[in-house]
Amino acid sequence: MRKPIIAGNWKMFKTLDESVSFVQELAPRLAPFDSVECLVCPSFVALSPVSQALKGTGIAVGAQNLHWEESGAYTSQISPTMLQGLVDYVLIGHSECREYLGDTDERVNKKVKAALAHGLKPIVAVGESLAQNETGETESFVGGQVFAALTGVKPAQMAQVVMAYEPIWAIGTGKSASGELANSIIGMIRSTLADLYGSDIAQATRIQYGGSVKPGNMAEYMSQPEIDGALVGGAALKVDDFVSLVEIAAQEKGA
Ligand code: 13P
Repeated sequence: MRKPIIAGNWKMFKTLDESVSFVQELAPRLAPFDSVECLVCPSFVALSPVSQALKGTGIAVGAQNLHWEESGAYTSQISPTMLQGLVDYVLIGHSECREYLGDTDERVNKKVKAALAHGLKPIVAVGESLAQNETGETESFVGGQVFAALTGVKPAQMAQVVMAYEPIWAIGTGKSASGELANSIIGMIRSTLADLYGSDIAQATRIQYGGSVKPGNMAEYMSQPEIDGALVGGAALKVDDFVSLVEIAAQEKGA
């Protein structure tokens, strides 16, 4: 059985102090739900104190991005060696990084391979635009993103990879995909994984849904068989909402 995984992507929110006090309040409240894997992805500057504050709590920490080179003249960038030992996970291919920071499929693929080579677990985000959705291109586009992101990733490395389906039109818009739609696209992602790696690996890989997930619609997603958790923006910035999301995941997944 796939362990549900809920990740809070804090994006460019929370100062260092706010980040630390948030996790100090969050950690004891998530303690009863150890059947759900939880992580927070703060800004780079808060990674170190947040990791310290979460030591021994079972809550993991993720970075929001990385560069694929170990070092070099790349002003502003953070390398995989800098993240080693500091975080467990790293978000790769988020649509905001694709849109604002120039992440192409090729760069996403380099980042995924660099993360894996340095013992960091990638959460690989894919998702279509509203126009692609409306013209019926979702499956071919998202399938292509999955294929491109994982090119050269070995079957044995797939145990470290989490996928996230985040339709761009549902991010921060309040317009969420229906549970059924999200389930069917995630099922399609799983069949792409089966084509690439065989059905055992596809069945074992966790795939999250992301896009306007909140306590009010969480059960709709978590009751779907293909959806293994959520990648959450806005609702993960509030302790009460984060705790509710995890509680609902635990209930719905019977975990
Ligand atoms: P919202 O939950 O705010 O829509 O953001 C989703 C997201 O982009 C998580 O990575």
